[in-house]
This record gives sequence, C-alpha cells and structure tokens, in this order.
Amino acid sequence: MAVAKKIENSIKNSSLIRKMFEEGLKRKAEFGEDNVYDFSLGNPNLEPPAAFKEVLRDLINDPVPGRHGYMPNAGYDYTRQAVADYLSRNNQGKSASGDIVMTVGAGGGMNVILKTLLDPGDEVIIPSPYFMEYNFYIGNHQGVPRPIPTTKDFSLDLDAIKEAICEKTKAVLINSPNNPTGKVYTKEELLDLAGLLEKSSSRLGRTIYLISDEPYRKLTYDGIKVPGIFDIYRESIISTSFSKDLSLPGERIGYVAVNPDISGKDTVTAGLILSNRILGFVNAPALMQRAIPSLMDASVDISFYKKNRDMLCEGLASFGYRFIKPQGAFYLFPETPIKDDVEFVSILKDENILTVPGSAFGRSGYIRIAYCTSPKVIERSLPGFEKAMKKV
Ligand SMILES: Cc1ncc(COP(=O)(O)O)c(C=O)c1O
Repeated sequence: MAVAKKIENSIKNSSLIRKMFEEGLKRKAEFGEDNVYDFSLGNPNLEPPAAFKEVLRDLINDPVPGRHGYMPNAGYDYTRQAVADYLSRNNQGKSASGDIVMTVGAGGGMNVILKTLLDPGDEVIIPSPYFMEYNFYIGNHQGVPRPIPTTKDFSLDLDAIKEAICEKTKAVLINSPNNPTGKVYTKEELLDLAGLLEKSSSRLGRTIYLISDEPYRKLTYDGIKVPGIFDIYRESIISTSFSKDLSLPGERIGYVAVNPDISGKDTVTAGLILSNRILGFVNAPALMQRAIPSLMDASVDISFYKKNRDMLCEGLASFGYRFIKPQGAFYLFPETPIKDDVEFVSILKDENILTVPGSAFGRSGYIRIAYCTSPKVIERSLPGFEKAMKKV
C-alpha cells in the first residue's frame, strides 16, 4: 500500500457515515427504496426553485462568446457585487465586491480561508458537536482542531473557550444554524464571544479570527434570525454556499466574505484569492456564478423543512425521546436512550432507519437525524422509532 499515512488514517476515521451510507444502499436493494428510511445524509430533498431553471435556460441561450473561459480567480465582478449588495441589504456590513471571493461551495470556502490563515501547528477552536469535515479541512493546512464542548443546550461555553485559548490559537470556527444540532447562537452569546476574542487577541499580541460557516443561514424556523457577525466582531470571515438554501449542493457554488473593516484587508483578500487558485479550484464554476446574481434573495420553501421538523419532533417526543427542538438547518440531535450511540444506531437500523451516531460529530450519547427527506419517509419511520425505544 502506497497511500499517505494521513490519508490511510482519515479513511479509517471517516468510516462511520460511510458505513451507514453503504449499509443504506444494501438495505434499499434488499427491502426496496420505500422501505428504508434514510436520515443519514444532509442532501436536500427539495428541487431548486423554479427561478433557477429559468435563469439557466436564459444563460445557455446567451449567444455572447467567451462565457466558459478562465476569469479572475476571485470570480466575476458582477457576481461579487451582487453578493456584496445582498450582504449590505441584510445588515451584514457595508460590503464591496472586493470583499467577496466566489468559491467551490462552503467546503471550498473553508479550505480557502484556512489555507490563508493557518501556519503549521496553529489551533482552531470549534464548539462541539460539529461537522466533522472540519477536522480534515484544518488538517489539510497543518492546523490543529481544538473541539470545545458546548453546554447541555448546545450554547457556546465561553468559560471553556477562554480556557482553551492559547498562543497557538488562530481562529474560532462557528456554525450557526448548526449541523448537527440545529442550534442558532444568540446575538448576546456572540457578543460575549467577540469580547473574549478581542481581549485574548490583545493579551496574546496576535489576531484571533472568527470564522463563521453559515450555509444554513436562511434555514431558520419560528421567526428566528441568525445575527450577522460583521457588526459583532471585526476580525471575522464568512464562508457559505447556495447548497442548502437553493438545493444546489452538486453545483458547488458558494463564497467567502471578509468583514469590510477587517485589519490588513488587502493582504487577507489577496491571500484568499491566491489560495482559491493554488488549491486548484482556480475559480468557482462559471455558469453558476452567472446564475447567482438574480437568485440572491431566492430560497427553497423553508416551510417544507419546518413541517418535517414538527412531525418528527412530535412523534419522537411522544415515544419518550429527549431533544432540543432545532431552531434552524435540517438536523435533529436527540439523546440516545442507552449510553452507546453506535449500538442504538444499530437498533434503529434493524427497523430500516438510518441515522448517524453522535460520536461522528464529537458527542456520543446522541444521534443525528437529517430530516431533509420526503414527509412520507418521516411518517413511515415513526413506528420504527417507537419500536426501537421500547426495545431498550
Ligand atoms: C456545517 C457545514 N458546513 C459546510 C458544508 C459544506 O457545504 P457545501 O456543500 O456548500 O460545500 C456542510 C454540508 O453539509 C455543512 O453541513
């Protein structure tokens, strides 16, 4: 075997979700698609809004030549301007096109940011549970993830973060609405975090950045709004995408936005643009960049996910499952009725229900249920959830 040790280890460590995915394929072949309730992946069930297809049709018929060539690594100017205008309209600072870099999804955006910021050994604090790909993204750029548990209701634990900050800390990485918990951080807790980062930065004599990964920003329920971070903390950078709110994860389109007031802005943005190029992304997909300007205010029908959330929460609560009702995104993160979450996932699997153990997100004793499925899948799975609870 000749693959790098790091990759060999990563293949082993990322096997929990992979295993569930493969198990799902096997079970669907055996029991039929309709009889397996797959809650394992955050792949949106909804089609993109109709406006997306209309825009694409127009773009494809556009007779102007040169539409498929290389472009500046940051993306088309008019796309960056449309993103900047959107952020300004939505109280996310007075952004300009130069503050935006178009990226290959939020995952691409995260890698661009981390490559730009991290020196070898730099630490990135991540409130946990968290999206485990962060470990790979940080490791890609010789950084070190420092997961710090959130409180019982998944709020930021400021004392624990304070304790973890040291001379190697380069950034705190937050994700709100959160995968896997559905938690949305309040403005107050973000202001407290910002105060802590400001004090710590001046004490340590180095900038600690706040990276906000927000592909679920538009997906919130019950009137909850996600506070914009640019007004809260100066040294902040957003990574996001249209993967979830326009149901376009396969099209790989997103962006990075730097706080318009960030220190050393020219160097930070030049670093992001260079990183986009030398990571081999070169630029975000051209066709998607041309579609996005007219879709900035569009979104899938969020009430679809809300109905799914409510049906699932009502059902599980009536069987005795304990959980914090998600405020956003499309994940539910209930406690498992037995300590061993992997074992409980296996008990659910016997009912043809596919979930992911909380340990795959850095918190055992929980499972993640991705409810971006059809309502029928939820409805038909409920007796299985009840049976699994009765079994234990
Ligand atoms: C928290 C979080 N960040 C980033 C991503 C990656 O998003 P994208 O598909 O836009 O790269 C995901 C995808 O599930 C996610 O859940």
